[in-house]
Amino acid sequence: MALRNILEKGDPTLEKNCRPITDFNARIHELLDDMAETLTASGGVGLAAPQVGVLRRAVLVLETNVDEGQEEYIIEMLNPEIIATEGEQTGAEGCLSVPGVYGIVTRPETVTVRAQDRFGESFTVTGHGLTARAFCHEIDHLSGHLFLEKAERILTPEELAGGEEDGDGEDA
Ligand code: CO
Repeated sequence: MALRNILEKGDPTLEKNCRPITDFNARIHELLDDMAETLTASGGVGLAAPQVGVLRRAVLVLETNVDEGQEEYIIEMLNPEIIATEGEQTGAEGCLSVPGVYGIVTRPETVTVRAQDRFGESFTVTGHGLTARAFCHEIDHLSGHLFLEKAERILTPEELAGGEEDGDGEDA
């Protein structure tokens, strides 16, 4: 495994549409392994392939809603599609490709995604709260969209210094 460089806003790669994954081969597995290492090192809750310069439909989200004593774990989603949403949440959101900037974004409270795993097997997964937010955020990356487009406003330096009271403000 290896750390990959995370592209930042302004890089045209982040504005492009990503292609589906059709070969679930060693190269894709290496990409996913590298993305997991990069995500863990970054301290964020999600990472999409275009953020590491690969225009393929693959995203990782850290599932943080785990029972006490359980380890958080990374969900790998290839060719993900949102198939159901429920409710609404409004709070702070950030992005590893837009360091230090947090905006207030409204997302569904619960999101169900259908995706394929690294071997091409289909599955569905439901996320709540921060996980649902990250599902939406990462899948937006696959069509070249950043959270800034959906932010109703950007948090001020005072709000940031105040401990991100408006929400989790996690990077994804
Ligand atoms: Co992001």
